[in-house]
Amino acid sequence: MKLTITQPDDWHLHVRDGEFMSAVLPFTAARFARAVIMPNLQPPVTSVAAALSYRERVIAAADAAGFTPLMTLYLTPSTSVETIEQAAACPHIIGVKWYPAGATTHSDQGVSDISDCLHVVEAMSELSLPLLIHGEVTDPEVDIFDRESRFVTSTLEPLLQRVPELRVVLEHITTADSAQFVQDAGPNVAATITPQHLQLNRTAMFQGGLRPHHYCLPVLKREYHRRRLVEVATSGDPKFFLGTDSAPHLRKDKESACGCAGVFSAHAGIELYAEVFDNAGALDRLEGFASLHGAAFYGLDRNSGTLTLERRAWQVPDVYRVGADELVPFRAGTKIAWRVHTSEGEH
Ligand code: DOR
Ligand code: ZN
Repeated sequence: MKLTITQPDDWHLHVRDGEFMSAVLPFTAARFARAVIMPNLQPPVTSVAAALSYRERVIAAADAAGFTPLMTLYLTPSTSVETIEQAAACPHIIGVKWYPAGATTHSDQGVSDISDCLHVVEAMSELSLPLLIHGEVTDPEVDIFDRESRFVTSTLEPLLQRVPELRVVLEHITTADSAQFVQDAGPNVAATITPQHLQLNRTAMFQGGLRPHHYCLPVLKREYHRRRLVEVATSGDPKFFLGTDSAPHLRKDKESACGCAGVFSAHAGIELYAEVFDNAGALDRLEGFASLHGAAFYGLDRNSGTLTLERRAWQVPDVYRVGADELVPFRAGTKIAWRVHTSEGEH
């Protein structure tokens, strides 16, 4: 069975930099026309100049004609309204990413209390520049499984009450609560959903032993939440769209006494969603989720090309090489039911 869709976009992606980027980015560029490139490098991408220089490096590493990176800025306590104005005027910058300080990988320079940046957020609202949010509270007293739902009630709701027109993408949602919040919010609020949060529940982190490659942030949640995410992703609601949050870390940094958070999924960035939509009997809605809803939210044209998927299983390698190091992909050593169809019949 084959399925041809408008070429999809990845609305949330980490590609790192340098040699690491050269190893991972071709996977994305082979599948997606565009990707929103996260700014959590070290040091983070905080200026338009830094974003434009990163963009040049991304284009060079993509190794594919026609791949378009959509850049983001990293919000810090010292981000100025002037920077927001420059970002809004720059056609290559699509939004500003807010990491609550300490919430996740390379988030220490983020913003703890968004009220401290209200003038910047108001400028974003006026200029219609979206705020892309890692939605977790960072209070160590709050149980890690509750941090996203707490964020929605304690932080996101009040923020949208103060700045109601702000365009918000609640990134990588993991709970029924977030799904409901986004459904009920105005058309200025949308969400991305990752393949791992559609395919796995939190038990997968402990299946027969500790599974560091299933650890990401926000952390996987209960089966009840996973099912709800599948429901909204496959519902046809344009508020929900594809964002892999593919977040590569070297094997040695994942398989460690204090392993890094992040699941690498770019090697199967569309195939994994095809499996989910197929299992839900909703293949006819994959194109909306993967190729149409995100572009509509961001006010961009649809891609003109197409991508053909085929239901023909392939085995995910145990590891990919990054120089002398290894990277363990999502679903390593297992079979994925869908592949990208090419004229040679390879994926
Ligand atoms: O698991 C994650 N990894 N979550 C994030 O928010 C960041 C990401 C990364 O950059 O590794
Ligand atoms: Zn991310």
